[in-house]
Amino acid sequence: MTREMRMVHTALRREFGLMPKLIAGVAEGDTARAALVADHLELVGTILHHHHHAEDLEIWPHLLERCPAEVAPLVYGMERHHERIAFLAVDLTDAVAAWRAEPNPARRDAVLAVLDPLITVLC
Ligand SMILES: [Fe+2]
Repeated sequence: MTREMRMVHTALRREFGLMPKLIAGVAEGDTARAALVADHLELVGTILHHHHHAEDLEIWPHLLERCPAEVAPLVYGMERHHERIAFLAVDLTDAVAAWRAEPNPARRDAVLAVLDPLITVLC
């Protein structure tokens, strides 16, 4: 399912890459728009979480079992990426919840400050 994996990865990087502009485009106090954007961000974050969970359970262990010498550095690197992403996702959830409740510049910037390193790791 290599083709499908590439599609998922492309879609996730694309959606997260579009987030900063979407968030920056929400006017201060526009809670309806903030909720719409926050819902989308949470949906994409949930998809990312489940995708990584599936990789951690169903791909990395099998690769390590079948061809450890060839894949160990890659697999361990991916596991570190997933750990870093999971850590940032917790901060993102908190920042988005605060921004959704009160979409002001400080809370928007807090979301963007988490998204920036998250997008870097994803890419
Ligand atoms: Fe993946």
